[in-house]
Amino acid sequence: MAQERLDKLLSSTGRWSRKEVKELVRHGRVRANEVLVARPEDKYDPETTAIQVDGELVDCAPFVYIMLHKPAGLLSATEDKRQKTVLGLLPEYLRRRGLFPVGRLDKDTTGLLLITDDGALAHELLSPKKHVDKVYLAQVEGQVNQEDVDVLAEGMVLGDGTRCLPAGLKPLEDGSRCLVTLREGKYHQVKRMLAARGKPVLTLKRLSMGPLVLDDGLNPGNWRFLTPNERVSLQRAVSRT
Ligand code: URA
Repeated sequence: MAQERLDKLLSSTGRWSRKEVKELVRHGRVRANEVLVARPEDKYDPETTAIQVDGELVDCAPFVYIMLHKPAGLLSATEDKRQKTVLGLLPEYLRRRGLFPVGRLDKDTTGLLLITDDGALAHELLSPKKHVDKVYLAQVEGQVNQEDVDVLAEGMVLGDGTRCLPAGLKPLEDGSRCLVTLREGKYHQVKRMLAARGKPVLTLKRLSMGPLVLDDGLNPGNWRFLTPNERVSLQRAVSRT
């Protein structure tokens, strides 16, 4: 990545204003690769430089990528006048960056939600053309069977005329739980497809999005930054086509 001014890099994290960065530098509180930074306008490559403030490593990468285990009861939105949103689970300094969830999960759906400020990547991950599969675990009323598998694989047309792309369905155990794989994200899609088969969804959890798999060490409501490997694998997933 290209080099950027230190004050721009640090202020882009949302934690300090440019003026505050100037003060940090003036008081000798900022180091780049262990060396004291002399001027806020000095330039560094954020991908190869370890920037520290008061000894704490600060991630100055241009975008932020967060894996959240969405709990039930929160909206997948950036803000809402009446209801709590997933963004409320993040600290203020991150919210200030203009983060947003990549695609929506229903209020009662749990599981993997990617939150970022990288609009280009988000757009590509959601594009059906990029073939990034989203896998959901559904608990249904009744049991899914081979006929349901075949109908979803064909590409369903819902009651209101909505055409769905072919989707994967894998019954688990006795068929009251199943894995559903979608390449697109139409409104209430899993619930509507399974309801149309007479198997209404009781609970729904997203397990993965392309190569990104929900970390089973994350409890509902918890989040973490993506690892460098996860970031690279997402970029690879959308650059294949
Ligand atoms: N399909 C649904 O029906 N709901 C979700 O939250 C996600 C996919």
